[in-house]
Amino acid sequence: MTDLVTAARAVRERAYAPYSRFLVGCAIRTASGAVFVGANVENAAYPQGLCAERSAVAAMVAAGEQRIAEVVVVGNGAAPCAPCGGCRQLLSEFAPGDTAVHMLGSDGGRRTATMGELLPYAFGPLALGAGIPPTPTAAGYLKDRFGDGFPKIAVVLGSGLGGFADRLEAPTAVGYDELEGFPRPSVEGHVGRLVVGTCGGVPVATLQGRVHVYEGQGTGTLATLVRALREVGVRVLILTNASGAIAAAIRPGTIALITDHINMLGTNPLIGPNDQRHGPRFPDMSAVYDAGLRGIVAASASSLRLEIASGVYLATTGPSFETPAEIRAFRALGADLVGMSTVPEAILARHAGLKVLGLSVVTNIAAGLRDAPLSHAETLAMGEAAAGDLERLLTASLPEIATHAA
Ligand code: HPA
Repeated sequence: MTDLVTAARAVRERAYAPYSRFLVGCAIRTASGAVFVGANVENAAYPQGLCAERSAVAAMVAAGEQRIAEVVVVGNGAAPCAPCGGCRQLLSEFAPGDTAVHMLGSDGGRRTATMGELLPYAFGPLALGAGIPPTPTAAGYLKDRFGDGFPKIAVVLGSGLGGFADRLEAPTAVGYDELEGFPRPSVEGHVGRLVVGTCGGVPVATLQGRVHVYEGQGTGTLATLVRALREVGVRVLILTNASGAIAAAIRPGTIALITDHINMLGTNPLIGPNDQRHGPRFPDMSAVYDAGLRGIVAASASSLRLEIASGVYLATTGPSFETPAEIRAFRALGADLVGMSTVPEAILARHAGLKVLGLSVVTNIAAGLRDAPLSHAETLAMGEAAAGDLERLLTASLPEIATHAA
């Protein structure tokens, strides 16, 4: 379904809807596996325009195909976008009653119904609510899929570090778009999927791709992600990231254990009403990064003869890198490392009572402490170069970490 959602979102951006400004994209997969897309096309005599679904069906028929296997419809309104009555009838000419029709809104909300369920409903997303069960929560979906066997350890993989997920044994991947309310990463190098498998026999869930404050999606989806993991049984959250070195003793290419953080994001993911079921209103942050887990990693590093560093991580929103003056200020504040992630997840995880381990791949010397300018390409390249060390360190540490995740 992920490819259809991507195709429908892409074609939605090309919709011609200057009157209603309601942009709709539709992607149809046919029984042969081909994908056809359509966007809505309005005219000045609105409402006699062409719906996205009809334009996709027309493209399919013109290409000689007549059997629909799956449909995605995505609008730019918050509510899941339902096909209108005429489109439902037209789709049902080509789609058997059990064909899945996924209806998405702009904020990640989704309803999925079969063609047969959808056909009799009155027009409009509100009417759909009456008879079609809501899409399960992310935690509900994961419980259905994995039962009680979800791993107790989850690892968020930072920029350039996604390869760890590719090397899990017996992997099962779930796209974030299957998980209600999960983030939609938009940064190169962040794919947005959960991969569950084992690493050296230890069950582990990896989150490949993360969202950052600078993407402008807010931190609500991160809260959903962390709380869903907690609900399905995760007890240890390992946060990996890429960072710039402020401390002179920390060299690029090194892995650093995060000992504490400084939140310079100007926001906090817990702002807003507090639901006591998730955690307390004023959670303690005096020991965010678990000392026991750090000890395990330090011991694994020495048995691997891998030199690692440790230090305080300071988070900025980005997306611009820091100025030399900011780096001098951050050093005076006590920061050893600087980056644009991790802190929101760490706060949410501690709020939810999870143990947190933070591992940073140092990709560069921070701005102004060296002659060359900074680039994201360098972050990715250096992250990839050090990824092997991070993988070895994680693999060696996981069996002992698992004993702390009971
Ligand atoms: N600054 C902010 N974020 C980063 C850096 C940096 O120097 N390196 C990798 N991520």
